[in-house]
Amino acid sequence: MAIVGGSAELNTGAQIPIIGLGTASMNTNEEDIKAAVIAALQVGYRHFDTARVYGSEHALGKALNSAFQSGLVSREDVFVTTKLRNTEHDDPVAAIKDSLINLQLEYVDLFLIHWPIKLRTEIPLTPLKEEDFLPLDIKSTWQGMEQCMEMGLTKAIGVSNFSCKKIEDLLKHAKIPPAVDQVEMHPHWHQKKLRDYCSKHNIHVSAWSPLGAPNTPWGSNAVMDNPLFQEIAQKHEKTRAQVMLRWGLEQGVSVLPKSYNAGRIAENFQVFDWSLTSDDHDKISKLEQKKIQQGELFVNSTTSPYKTLEELWDGEI
Ligand code: A2P
Repeated sequence: MAIVGGSAELNTGAQIPIIGLGTASMNTNEEDIKAAVIAALQVGYRHFDTARVYGSEHALGKALNSAFQSGLVSREDVFVTTKLRNTEHDDPVAAIKDSLINLQLEYVDLFLIHWPIKLRTEIPLTPLKEEDFLPLDIKSTWQGMEQCMEMGLTKAIGVSNFSCKKIEDLLKHAKIPPAVDQVEMHPHWHQKKLRDYCSKHNIHVSAWSPLGAPNTPWGSNAVMDNPLFQEIAQKHEKTRAQVMLRWGLEQGVSVLPKSYNAGRIAENFQVFDWSLTSDDHDKISKLEQKKIQQGELFVNSTTSPYKTLEELWDGEI
């Protein structure tokens, strides 16, 4: 398949399209998600990122299925990622089978451990209680992920929100190494150390919230509102979002911007036929660094495996 805009090769040999539509949104209206997926397919997106916890799998599945039936694209043309919930570490095979039912697919292209956290119960956006945390046995979770791949339920497996140290620990047990680490990354959180580590170990990095998640309860407008992006955007006659996405692509990662607005979906895909200058890169490289989603909810001093944020991110924050 020819992927508009290009792709990167995973350590499985498969191609991952370097722009994907993110679907973590407060808006879980099925019609809005379906319309967004179809709009994205029409402008050239071939990569869709979802997770059990986002509540978007079902609508994404419906949209893809209608696109397969109408002949807009075929299954082999699209790359679909979903993720293991924090409550599903005991049985990744059962979890992916539930996701596949939601998605109306026989396999996904990538299945990720969503967080290095195991929970008894999880309700999005509500505080966790001390009794919700369970000890994480990454070796046994990863064996379940490997089984998903061996059974043909996913073409690749990987992790999300893992530090270098956590990947290193995982690699000690892995028969199949992770293909991807999907992490927060944008011009205010460069992830340089993680990218260097992943590049050394042939693990592809995907950037969630490449725009810093403006106008969302979990994100920040600080990245989008930084005047530097207005300045660079004006110079190239592009938008601020396009500059940020182009920056991500020029770092060698794939980017997963979220929008259910057809105009912005199209805008975010116009990032292929131009480039940033070395001066732009120089200025962006000097921006103050601050991770937006620090994962405070996963830290407590009693029952979490992570007593502090330092422990959750292994000092890489
Ligand atoms: P909307 O869905 O109304 O387009 P991120 O991908 O970094 O998590 O950011 C998602 C947020 O960025 C959403 O609030 C989305 O709003 C907004 N967004 C997506 N694309 C653009 C764009 N091109 N310009 C401005 N805001 C955007």
